Amino acid sequence: MNILAIETSCDETAIAVLSVSDGNDPTFRLRANVVHSQIAIHAPYGGVFPALAKREHSKNLIPVLLRALKNAGMFKIAPQGRTLGTKKGPTFSAILEREPKLLEQFLKEIPKIKKPKVDAIAVTHGPGLEPALWVGINFAKALSLVWGVPIIPVNHMEGHIFSAFIPKGAAISKSKFLISKQIPNSKSKTREITFPAMALLVSGGHTELILIKKWGSYKKVGETHDDAAGEAFDKVARMLSLPYPGGPHIAALAAMTRNNADQTQKKHPRLSASYLRGSALRLPRPMINSKDLNFSFSGLKTAVLYLVRSMEKRAPLTQEDKIAIAHEFQEAVVDVLVKKTIDAAKKYNIHTILLGGGVAANERLRARLLEEVAPASASHAGGRALPRAKLLLPDRAATTDNAAMIAVAGYFISQSKKKPPKNIGARGNLSL
Ligand code: KG4
Ligand code: ZN
Repeated sequence: MNILAIETSCDETAIAVLSVSDGNDPTFRLRANVVHSQIAIHAPYGGVFPALAKREHSKNLIPVLLRALKNAGMFKIAPQGRTLGTKKGPTFSAILEREPKLLEQFLKEIPKIKKPKVDAIAVTHGPGLEPALWVGINFAKALSLVWGVPIIPVNHMEGHIFSAFIPKGAAISKSKFLISKQIPNSKSKTREITFPAMALLVSGGHTELILIKKWGSYKKVGETHDDAAGEAFDKVARMLSLPYPGGPHIAALAAMTRNNADQTQKKHPRLSASYLRGSALRLPRPMINSKDLNFSFSGLKTAVLYLVRSMEKRAPLTQEDKIAIAHEFQEAVVDVLVKKTIDAAKKYNIHTILLGGGVAANERLRARLLEEVAPASASHAGGRALPRAKLLLPDRAATTDNAAMIAVAGYFISQSKKKPPKNIGARGNLSL
């Protein structure tokens, strides 16, 4: 089965092609995974600007599709050119009327190519920015009409849950100009998951703990009352005059203290690592001991703001100050995320822990989770906090938004008995 997946919920225009050998133990082969990032366009606004995102998706979907088909070895010129006539039902112009840039390219390029061997089109229908989601959905509808294949609507967060199942080592073609390299045809077996499982989803818009009793059965057991973890990273980065999106910049600064600490400790071996790493700064760990599994990051963000203001009263922030703040902020976020994940795992007797979303790229979070939960490859827990659970970490490259995760989720949805909704439309606040 070949699935073509489309993701346009935020600021990445992404298309992937996944081949799955059917059977009880399916093998995934990621044939194309193209991500066209709009980060440079949104960065001056310090966040994603929805109207711009919509315009960019509209402009970039056809070039991203052609690149994905070429990478997948599925790009073939139709001998006579095809006609796009539809006998009955909506026309392409009607489906894409709100996306004139996309319609123009669609009518020019799609008739030239042979129908690829695609069995279904998976598309993100929420949550996300509605104007951006609509572009991907309408594109999927138009392709579904011309190729005569069904659409599988996918929840973006379900995609993040499945990011640990994206074939390992499959490089994402990231290119501003879409001149991406051929992707190695990576294969992987479905990784082992034992239920019940718990997913910690941490992205720019979400911080959630999702209980998974079996495939397709999701229950949100914890979420943030205010800011998402990624959003807090982005806002704190802004206070430290770091570029958008701030997560990777904060993480890089925070890592500098750790490197400094390691070096200082070599020179002064009698100083303990925790003394060196715990700087004089101390930020709150909101809700860390609350009885529920919810989060709150807005107070932490405000605490950083007051700290920055009081430090700046004395003198402008130095690089050392920024490193210390980034480090303590990251520790605070990671402490809370890890503690609540352990609480959730204990409460629900969890066997597998999954991590997903952009913040899952954070090395400190990954390392701390590995201290508490053994990786899937380990044969025993080795004194960790959760002796019965295994941790399935996604490849770092698979953590931020991409269409491979939508394709994998789309495959599992296609195998379930759930009927897709009749009217597929953008659902900005769709939840699991
Ligand atoms: O999942 P994602 O790509 O988009 C959303 O669906 O939101 O997540 C993006 C978020 C941003 O807030 C970004 O700052 C954060 O993930 N992020 C990180 C790291 N890399 C990306 N946060 C912390 N550490 C990182 N290394
Ligand atoms: Zn996301």
